[in-house]
Amino acid sequence: MSPTPSPVRFLTGITTSGTPHLGNYVGSIRPSVRASQTDGVQSFYFLADYHALIKIDEPARIQRSTLEIAASWLAAGLDPERVVFYRQSDVPEIPELTWFLTCVTGKGVLNRAHAYKASVDKNTAAGVDADSDVTAGLFMYPVLMGADILMFNAHHVPVGRDQIQHIEMARDMANSFNYRYGQHFVAPEAVIEESVATLPGLDGRKMSKSYDNTIPLFSSREQLKKLIAGVKTDSRAPGEPKDTEGSALFQIYQAFASAEETEALRTAYAHGIAWGDAKQLLLERIDQEIAPMRARYQHLMENPAEVEALLLTGAQKARAIATPFMAQLRHAVGLRSLTSGAVQAPVKAAKSALPSFKQYREKDGKFYFKLADAKGALLLQSLGLESPQTAGKSIGLLQKDGACALDALADQLEPFADRDAVLAALDTLRPEAT
Ligand code: TRP
Repeated sequence: MSPTPSPVRFLTGITTSGTPHLGNYVGSIRPSVRASQTDGVQSFYFLADYHALIKIDEPARIQRSTLEIAASWLAAGLDPERVVFYRQSDVPEIPELTWFLTCVTGKGVLNRAHAYKASVDKNTAAGVDADSDVTAGLFMYPVLMGADILMFNAHHVPVGRDQIQHIEMARDMANSFNYRYGQHFVAPEAVIEESVATLPGLDGRKMSKSYDNTIPLFSSREQLKKLIAGVKTDSRAPGEPKDTEGSALFQIYQAFASAEETEALRTAYAHGIAWGDAKQLLLERIDQEIAPMRARYQHLMENPAEVEALLLTGAQKARAIATPFMAQLRHAVGLRSLTSGAVQAPVKAAKSALPSFKQYREKDGKFYFKLADAKGALLLQSLGLESPQTAGKSIGLLQKDGACALDALADQLEPFADRDAVLAALDTLRPEAT
C-alpha cells in the first residue's frame, strides 16, 4: 500500500540553534509561508530541535531559539490552521524511523556527507585524529533528516543549496527501504530558490551563524540601521560608478526588492550612488517588509504559552499521520505481534533488479559517478572529474572490461571495500550480459 497522497506535500525544518536572521527569512521562512498559501499543497513545517542537539549543549538556548523561530514563522504569516506546524521532538515516531533508515543506509555514504567530511578535513589539516571532536550525532545527521522527510512522504523540500546532498541521501534511503520492504516511501526532491540561494552576510560571505555575520530578522529599526551600516563595501567615493557584481549590499537588496526596484538600484550603482545612500535604501526596503510583522513577533515572544499550545495542536496533526504510518512500517520490517496472522517461515523474496551506475554533478562543479548494487548500497565511488564525458567514458570501460578497467581507472576512484562485490556487479552490467 502506498501512502502517496493526492495533494503535493511540502516539508521543511529549521534547526533551533540560534536567532533567525535575514538569510533564514528569505531562504526558508518566506518561501515556506508563500508555498503554504498555495491551493492543492499540503505543508509540513517544523522546528528541528533534535538537530539542534548536534551543535548545541546549552538547554536554555535551544528553548529560546525554538520560541524565536516559531514566533518568526507565525509573524511572517504562517497560518497554523492551514499547515502542519510542529516541533520535531513532539513526534517520537521520527527517532524510531531514524533507526529503520539507519539500517538501510551504507556507512560509506555517510562518510561522504559534507558536514561530516568538512570536520574530518579540518582535523586532518590540523594534524589531529580525523574524528577528533566529531560526535556520532553529526555523523548520523543525514539519517535524522531523512526520517524528518520520509515520515510525511514529502514530495518537495525547500532548502538551501548546502542541503541538496541530504535530500539526495533521503531519496537513496527511500529507495533502499522500498526495495527491501515494498513501496512505502516517496522519493523527495529539493526545491531551491535560485534568487536567494545564498544571501551574503555583513562581511560578504554567506550569511550564517557560524560566520557571525548575520542580521537578525527581528532587530529594531535602529539596530537594523546600525547593522546595515556595517555591510562591507569597497572604498569608492560618491560619484564613482560601482559594481553590482559581488556587492553584498546589492544582493541583499535584491532578495527583498521587486525586479523594477532592483533595476533602479543597478542604474544608481552605475551612476555612482554613495554607499551611505545605498545603505539607506536597503534599510527602508527591508524595514518596509519586516516592520508590519514586529508587533506580532513581540506579542508571541511575550506569550510563549500561545506558541506552545499551537505547537502541541500541530504535533497532534503530525502524529495522526505518523503513528499509523509507523505501525505500517513496523509491520513491514517484521516488528510484529506474535499473534498477528500466522507466523510464517521466512521467504527470501526474489530480487531481480540490477546494479546501476549513476552520474551526477556536485557543488564543487565537478562530475562524479557511482555504482550501487541492486539494493541501492554503494559499491564504487569516483573522485571529482573535470567533464561528464570523462565520467561517461569510465563507466563504459568499467562495464565493458570489468577488472582491467577497475585497475586502469584506479586514480579516478575512491578506495573501495569489496572488490569481489564490485566485479560481480560489473559482470551483470557487461553489454553482452544485459
Ligand atoms: N538540516 C536543515 C538545516 O540545517 C534543517 C532540517 C532538518 C531540515 N530537518 C530537515 C530541512 C528536513 C528540510 C527538511 O538547514
